[in-house]
Amino acid sequence: MINEDVTGSDDVLLKCENLTKIYTSGLIRTKTVAGAKNVSFNIKKGEIVSLAGESGSGKSTVAKMILMLLRPTSGHIFLNGKDISLYNIRDYYRQVQAVFQDPYSAFNPFYKVDHVISRAFGLRQDNPDEDERKEIIESTFLSIGLNPSEVLGRYPHELSGGQMQRLLIGRSLLIGSQLLIADEPTSMIDASTRAGVLNLLLRLKEKEGLSVLFITHDIGQAQYVSERVLIMKEGEIVEQGSVNDVFTNPNHPYTQELLASVPSLYEKWEELT
Ligand SMILES: Nc1ncnc2c1ncn2[C@@H]1O[C@H](COP(=O)(O)OP(=O)(O)O)[C@@H](O)[C@H]1O
Ligand SMILES: [Mg+2]
Repeated sequence: MINEDVTGSDDVLLKCENLTKIYTSGLIRTKTVAGAKNVSFNIKKGEIVSLAGESGSGKSTVAKMILMLLRPTSGHIFLNGKDISLYNIRDYYRQVQAVFQDPYSAFNPFYKVDHVISRAFGLRQDNPDEDERKEIIESTFLSIGLNPSEVLGRYPHELSGGQMQRLLIGRSLLIGSQLLIADEPTSMIDASTRAGVLNLLLRLKEKEGLSVLFITHDIGQAQYVSERVLIMKEGEIVEQGSVNDVFTNPNHPYTQELLASVPSLYEKWEELT
């Protein structure tokens, strides 16, 4: 019974239910590590949810399970009420796209970045002709704040990290994805362009109704970009709720610790803008 609609609500886009991932390593004396333990949460349509926690807390493990790059040891993931294991993989990736820490790793260094754009058209359901493609590319670039002439025809190493992340976010827009899994998308780009990427996510949420799982070790960025936050520690979600509630009145000592180690929102704002 894995294909029934258990989300119970029309506006839930993604539902993770008791996700557990146990890693096993070593051939003779096997060692097991719980990357994620009983992780449950929802993401609504048009919502940015942050998953915050220190390095090694299991954030990427959760992201990889949602992206079908890792199979959960137990638990289920539903997209629009349907167990993701029942999706045709192309249909799934049409709806769920990702941005990772290292934007360059998502591009083949020997291809111009145009290649990524033309591949993205392959995932769309329509089949636009040459002129339509041009229009779509132009409007996508406008939305992500990039000038096509600065980017098209170039190789990945000729672009900045911030431009690359924008391009990847643009790719999901071009495909028409509903959910973006953004795993520490700003941690390898310099502070001055970081705010631009966060603001782009906020704008796409507002204008396109994009949902985002925003993963970060920086609770200040979680605060900036989302209304709801999940705090992860040692594979478990130890606290979740609205950013206001969790940050003004943290229940878990770990959340208090994370909060104590970041500058105030005001200082953060100064740094980001
Ligand atoms: N492929 C793997 N094999 C074994 N252990 C892993 C593997 N990937 C991650 N882990 C372990 O799982 C835990 C969570 O890792 P990860 O999900 O990458 O955390 P985060 O993204 O929060 O830094 C860590 O203890 C990490 O060492
Ligand atoms: Mg990680």
